[in-house]
Amino acid sequence: MKDALKVDKDWWRGSAEGIPRLITEAPGPRSKQMHANTARYMKGLSSQVKLFPVCFEEGNGITLTDVDGNKYLDFSSGIYVTSLGHCHPKISEAIAYWAKKLMNAHDFTTPVKEKLLEKMAAILPGKLNAVQLYSDGATAVEAAIRAARAITHKHEFISAYRDFHGKSMGAVSCAQMYRGETFSYGPTRAAGFYMAPRPDPYRPLWKKADGTIDTDAYIDFYENFLREGTVGNVAAFVLEPAQGWAGSIFPPDDFFPKLKKLCEQYNILLYDDEVLAGMGRTGEWLALNHWNVIPDIVTFGKSFGNGFPVTALVVSEENGEALEKISASSSYGGNPMACAAALASIEVIEEENILENVRSVGAYFMKRMQQMKAEHPIIGDVKGKGFLLGIELVKDKTTKEPFAEAGVSVYRKAFKKGLAWIPAGHILRMSPPLIMDEKYAAMGMDIIEDAIAETEKEFGYN
Ligand SMILES: Cc1ncc(COP(=O)(O)O)c(C=O)c1O
Repeated sequence: MKDALKVDKDWWRGSAEGIPRLITEAPGPRSKQMHANTARYMKGLSSQVKLFPVCFEEGNGITLTDVDGNKYLDFSSGIYVTSLGHCHPKISEAIAYWAKKLMNAHDFTTPVKEKLLEKMAAILPGKLNAVQLYSDGATAVEAAIRAARAITHKHEFISAYRDFHGKSMGAVSCAQMYRGETFSYGPTRAAGFYMAPRPDPYRPLWKKADGTIDTDAYIDFYENFLREGTVGNVAAFVLEPAQGWAGSIFPPDDFFPKLKKLCEQYNILLYDDEVLAGMGRTGEWLALNHWNVIPDIVTFGKSFGNGFPVTALVVSEENGEALEKISASSSYGGNPMACAAALASIEVIEEENILENVRSVGAYFMKRMQQMKAEHPIIGDVKGKGFLLGIELVKDKTTKEPFAEAGVSVYRKAFKKGLAWIPAGHILRMSPPLIMDEKYAAMGMDIIEDAIAETEKEFGYN
């Protein structure tokens, strides 16, 4: 195996000079035409694409360029995927090397797979070191569900309102997948899968006397539900550490420690789906690290390969034997290109001190969002950790009525000003590349704040 490429950590700066650069009104004429041609055949495009039909042809670091030559600041990382910047030279080179040498070798060991597994065991907390590799998040989630059954010999699962885990049958059974015009269209949730509320500090279902969220009430509810609503065969709680699709919603700090205790008491596994939040996005390898909780099962995807489709299921060493019962074989999982992408991505996070950057620029983001909340009548809440961020728009700060129309307006206006991003609904979700510094973080927030101010004017706020 060739030595990995050494890359200057400022590799992306040159391409970011002078952004945003808008040559036409965005989306421009070529974008619109190509989108129309595509949409003629491709059905079910996401709402963001329909609302802003831009056609991208290049990504470099923190920028995206469309077919009309407009260059945008990226605040989405694909969809939480290209977290170390578009086409990071070290990662692209590592993929290209194996693309020319060995693209697939079934489940057999390859030098790059050996290195990746050793590296994963070194960075993950506790004894999380029994691994299977897959090629998309939903497949890793399915494997995690099978693993939980194999470990516990139980078959029921509890997930949470507004969690999202992918679009395969097991994964949609751990979610609702109904928002606006999006339906799961399965039969109903598979047997033995249940949904329960999870704490959203801005919209608490159960509050203490002082009005703050009452985590214990949620835990009490789960305990009661285990007794009354299940057949006593719950294998695992299936949860995102922070809800991405729902709008960057983080639970209160005492939630996961208390849930873990409950799980231990009832011999239930804690399955932490880190496909979206893991691998540095919140400033930790695992978002659950923020609360010093080590899950029994974890899944990675998205940022794991910085754009190359590679995902992982990981369980703790003592449960590793159970993975023998669920074969790791998959057509693409763990192929050399995939392993190279994941290994290079982890190395980049270490070599470029990415976790530190996410923590410090993340602190800037949070401070800036707090200031915006104080100044804008339609910002009800701001939330996030690191580079997993959300601004919740409401019609009225007292009633907290969601302001979806404002969400659409801010999305489009900011995009037109040169910000490539993918908020959905009334929560403006942001997931910038983790290499971004404060200068460009401020540039993106300035664009968003201008778009919010213009939207407020249009809707009669001042
Ligand atoms: C938390 C979580 N789990 C699983 C998935 C499914 O991943 P994929 O789209 O790669 O199947 C997603 C996708 O957004 C996700 O956010």
